[in-house]
Amino acid sequence: MSILSGKNILLGVTAGIAAYKTAHLTRLFVRAGAQVKVVMTPKSMEFVTPLTLSTLSKNPVVSEFISHDEENETWNSHVELGLWADYFLVAPATANSLSKMVKGTADNLLIATYLSAKCPVYIAPAMDLDMYKHPSTTQNLDNLASFGNIIIPAETGELASGLIGEGRMAEPETIVAFMEQHIQKSLPLYGKNVLITAGPTYESIDPVRFIGNHSSGKMGFELAKQAAGMGANVVLIAGPSQQSCDDFPIKRIDVTSAQEMYEAVFQYYDQMHLVIAAAAVADYKPVEVASQKIKKSEDQLTLTLVKNPDILAAMGKVKKQQILVGFALETENELENALGKLKRKNLDAIVLNSLQDFGAGFQKDTNKVTFIDRFENKTTFALQSKKEVAKDIINQILTIYHV
Ligand code: CTP
Repeated sequence: MSILSGKNILLGVTAGIAAYKTAHLTRLFVRAGAQVKVVMTPKSMEFVTPLTLSTLSKNPVVSEFISHDEENETWNSHVELGLWADYFLVAPATANSLSKMVKGTADNLLIATYLSAKCPVYIAPAMDLDMYKHPSTTQNLDNLASFGNIIIPAETGELASGLIGEGRMAEPETIVAFMEQHIQKSLPLYGKNVLITAGPTYESIDPVRFIGNHSSGKMGFELAKQAAGMGANVVLIAGPSQQSCDDFPIKRIDVTSAQEMYEAVFQYYDQMHLVIAAAAVADYKPVEVASQKIKKSEDQLTLTLVKNPDILAAMGKVKKQQILVGFALETENELENALGKLKRKNLDAIVLNSLQDFGAGFQKDTNKVTFIDRFENKTTFALQSKKEVAKDIINQILTIYHV
């Protein structure tokens, strides 16, 4: 899945021949799962029509502060557009528009929107080679970069003038790849390895029965998705669960028993920067698994159980660079029990789930948690969706620790 999926991209088109490539560019953004809106300078409409771009972007295209149709006049708010955008790309950016952007000459909707945007702004210049090399242009580009804008360098090739040289707008595929990489690198968990355990474990009794629990795996899957969205390389080790993370760049390893989860975890643990154990691991398993289905004969059946390995405690014992976070699901003496686990398992933080809280716990879409760090500072979050809880947990980890 592209990092641009679900993002709002505002495409600013200025009057260069490369404007014809913005039709393809718009398509690529839409294909990446982004919402696209287009703002054009009046002159750019001589190179590509608003109809083309509105059809491809599935949104109206704006170019004037006030749009007129048969009956109404509509005020196109540059402020709203600027705030709507997660990313603003000006492509092609002509020498004239670069100069206006440097000076803040807001004589058209595009430049006014540029001045209103709070999001990262990408600029893909396009012009003839001598214009591109001119000190006025290079200085304008340097100035724009010094304001925090990101310049997507022009390419060398055949130009509209027939000359060959540097000045051609980067190809649409290159622009999209450039933005994806740039965004990826600016994410808080970029380059970090994150391991999440999720779901229940099933401990076999015989070939058809097992001991399990009601964990759905939702919390762990949301944590994995959130970490992936923040740029991490995520390994998700999941017990039996109906949850899916197919659309995310997550390495998912399915396991069944606690022993299998333990083995999978320790294949990756050494290289990890952050580990969050959200799995509801069965504490005990049958001492032996019957090779045939156990028949109904006696009135009472006794199963002898032995302890499973405590995966989190084992990780705590050999912890090096890893930030290690556990969960505690409690029904009584919540804080005391959670703090006990934090210390005993040598954790950096523990997320306390109280089953006394309405809307929290297994099988639910919502959760209410208290985050306790290794200095015993406690932060309680409101009851919210598990997706929001996952975001809060990872942000809290990043606020306190250097992952
Ligand atoms: N955990 C684990 N391996 C186990 C048991 C638990 O990795 N065999 C992890 C869970 O993923 C969770 C944390 O330990 O992050 C706490 O789990 P919990 O079941 O609440 O605690 P236990 O240590 O099993 O204690 P108890 O069941 O007595 O409350």
